[in-house]
Amino acid sequence: MGMQHKPIGVFDSGYGGLTVLKEIVAQLPQYDYLYLGDNARAPYGPRSFDTVYQYTLECVEWFFKQGCELVILACNTASAKALRNIQQKDLPGIDPFKRVLGVIRPTTEIIGNYSTTGQLGILGTQGTVISNSYPIEIQKFFPSMQVFQEACPMWVPLVENGAANEPGADYFVQKHLNQLLSQSPKIDTILLACTHYPLLLNKIKAFAPASMTIVSQGEIVAKSLADYLDKHLSMAEKCSKNGQIRFCTTDSAVDFDAHASLFFGQAVISQHVDLQG
Ligand code: DGL
Repeated sequence: MGMQHKPIGVFDSGYGGLTVLKEIVAQLPQYDYLYLGDNARAPYGPRSFDTVYQYTLECVEWFFKQGCELVILACNTASAKALRNIQQKDLPGIDPFKRVLGVIRPTTEIIGNYSTTGQLGILGTQGTVISNSYPIEIQKFFPSMQVFQEACPMWVPLVENGAANEPGADYFVQKHLNQLLSQSPKIDTILLACTHYPLLLNKIKAFAPASMTIVSQGEIVAKSLADYLDKHLSMAEKCSKNGQIRFCTTDSAVDFDAHASLFFGQAVISQHVDLQG
């Protein structure tokens, strides 16, 4: 890999970030991308703040070693629990010119526009929900919005194990959807605040009221990245543009390739990496 290879890093605990990468590549095909799934340590959702922060920082440092100037945490759990510390505490010491961005800010900036009743439902991992990041951030942009949350601890394991379309998933999808919607009859918009959940979209739609607006983050995050690069030309110039994508996983590459196409929408060939290597 030459010195000029500076792909945009895209990170998730596992496969979920591929749903975001897919939309980013569709909107910005000219850039090079480096995807890392920390599958060996997924899921992050039930882990403590300190653990998610430590794992995410190790992955961000790995991206920097690979030449990335810009890393997108395409994972809500990592964005909720690690991003602020990394941006404020770690980046200034590592390299003040590098950037790490998350998925929560771009989503909360616009999510209120989808609702007409002023009541939003958020579905996410335990980590994302307990952090309260969504209600706090949404309040900044849409002060009168009422936000209801529900943690869905079984959804990521269902998706990671390739069971998203199996009948057994119905129980857990219905359970959490009902628990969310029972909090208020006026919720008219549901945000899938976990990058794995678009894989459950068909089931969520089947069990939600027909009038419900269900929002996935991929396109929102991709549009926000495009705007960011338009506004930060020195960063846009630094990132290399050969239209190449490299996929890496901390676990088995064979397993990654077998599952990843479901999330990315096309065949994927990955390589195993050792974060310390
Ligand atoms: N895709 C991650 C997110 O958006 C899943 C987190 C997990 O590993 O539990 O939160």
